Amino acid sequence: MEVLSRKLHRRRRSSREDTIQSIPGSHGHKFISSFKLQQQGNLYFKTLQQKYQQNVFRINIGVRAIALVDNRVIRILFQNDKVTKEDGVGNYITNYNLMDSLRPSIFSDQKDRMSRNSFILQTLAAMQDKYIIQQTYNSIEDHFQRWNKTYQPTASKSIQPSWDDGIQHLCCDIICRLFIDKTVNFESIFQWYVQALQKIKVPGLLKQRQCADIYNTYIELFKEIENSTYLPYYLNTGRQCSLSDEYAKENVLFGIIFNAFGSCEAIMRTCAARIGILSHEDRNQLRQEIQSTLGEGNDLSLAALTKMKRLRSFVAEVLRTSSPISLIFRRAKQDMFIQAYTGTYKISKGHLLVGNIHLAHRDPNVFPEPDTFKPFRFYDDPELIRHMIWEAGVYPDEAKNLSHQCPGKKMMMILLQLFCMKLLIHTEFQFDVTPDWNEKHLHSLGCPDGCLTLNQFSYDPAMFKIKLSDDICNSHSPFLHCED
Ligand code: HEM
Repeated sequence: MEVLSRKLHRRRRSSREDTIQSIPGSHGHKFISSFKLQQQGNLYFKTLQQKYQQNVFRINIGVRAIALVDNRVIRILFQNDKVTKEDGVGNYITNYNLMDSLRPSIFSDQKDRMSRNSFILQTLAAMQDKYIIQQTYNSIEDHFQRWNKTYQPTASKSIQPSWDDGIQHLCCDIICRLFIDKTVNFESIFQWYVQALQKIKVPGLLKQRQCADIYNTYIELFKEIENSTYLPYYLNTGRQCSLSDEYAKENVLFGIIFNAFGSCEAIMRTCAARIGILSHEDRNQLRQEIQSTLGEGNDLSLAALTKMKRLRSFVAEVLRTSSPISLIFRRAKQDMFIQAYTGTYKISKGHLLVGNIHLAHRDPNVFPEPDTFKPFRFYDDPELIRHMIWEAGVYPDEAKNLSHQCPGKKMMMILLQLFCMKLLIHTEFQFDVTPDWNEKHLHSLGCPDGCLTLNQFSYDPAMFKIKLSDDICNSHSPFLHCED
């Protein structure tokens, strides 16, 4: 029935697609629009979509752009022969001077892009699944043991530490252990990451002081890379990719730690929130799947994780509903026609295009009941995965040199599956306040609106014994034993 209604929906649309639609809306006033964006986030895009009844419209988000908000039209942003990626993220990245020549949106189409891209892709390809599982699993166990003590019921609820901090800290440790073989001061990473992306609003001397603070944190983190036992690997690989030693180190900090930490910490917090509010029935189904896959002496391995199709569906649904990155920007390289579900539109060379992943993942043309969180949506209809575009690419494509697709997919899926699996099977927890989402915040990276505070957390690995395969236990870092 659902499939039939989607077909009818599409047929009604097709007559509109034959003619060229004019792009509705005006770019409006920069400050008013920026204010609205700040206040309303993704809802600002949604309001305009409803107002114009079109999936392509003009918008001003501090920069004049053309918004693309359905699951079909957004794909033009992945056709690199037609669009180009520029430095920065629209005009969001304001502290250029504090980042040397580098940006978090790191692989703009600049001339050394090929070298930097190869460097990251080669590094991620060298990291074997079993090593990722081993490091991630060990970090999770360490932190869950600690959380057993940290998140205990106290007389005064107000001193209960936020779980967001705990999860961010865990994520930071996993990423740093994987990439530089040690944990680093979590506060430094976090401060630098947040402040580097924020406009400095204080005036004069205070501004100078804040800049100095951010810069000092950058230097501190840079030293951590220089002191890592993996440094010879990075210098060697950098040279193979024609990167100077300094540039290789900067790319580890930005391309790997900044990108990986920024997105993973947010999606981990959202996964935890979603697990906490799952119905008993759904939670039990997930638990049963994990227990039947790992029961009867079956070891934990990548193959076992792949078999957990309900768990993978749950993670995919979290990514669909709460993609940490909502907006992607590209500039048209040529005049062209683009196809949306609401018609065909003409784009001129030089137009800045902004795709809204949040809305493309809620497109009713492809996702039935798009606003409802359905943990087994992708289990029930595996084909739906082809409409997921959180990684700035089309499933099942993998990131390639010059594709701009996120290269962190494999690592991130292992990390999230392990985190969710352990939470489901070995913990009991309860929130003080039930997590909730509105679509207003762009900066919350898909996480619930308020802080996650727990009134109870217990970790008991004896509840169900998990054995890591010998392969995983004995795996070694791919980055050691490399001649400088
Ligand atoms: C849930 C986790 C993640 C999400 C949602 C995510 C999302 C994205 C998106 C949307 C882009 C494209 C940005 C744009 O073009 O404007 C991107 C690029 C990138 N991501 Fe991820 N990412 C995640 C995890 C990771 C991880 C674990 C790494 C590991 C190193 C990583 C490394 C990168 C890099 C290096 C780029 C730049 C690619 C290029 O421009 O060629 N990401 N990511």
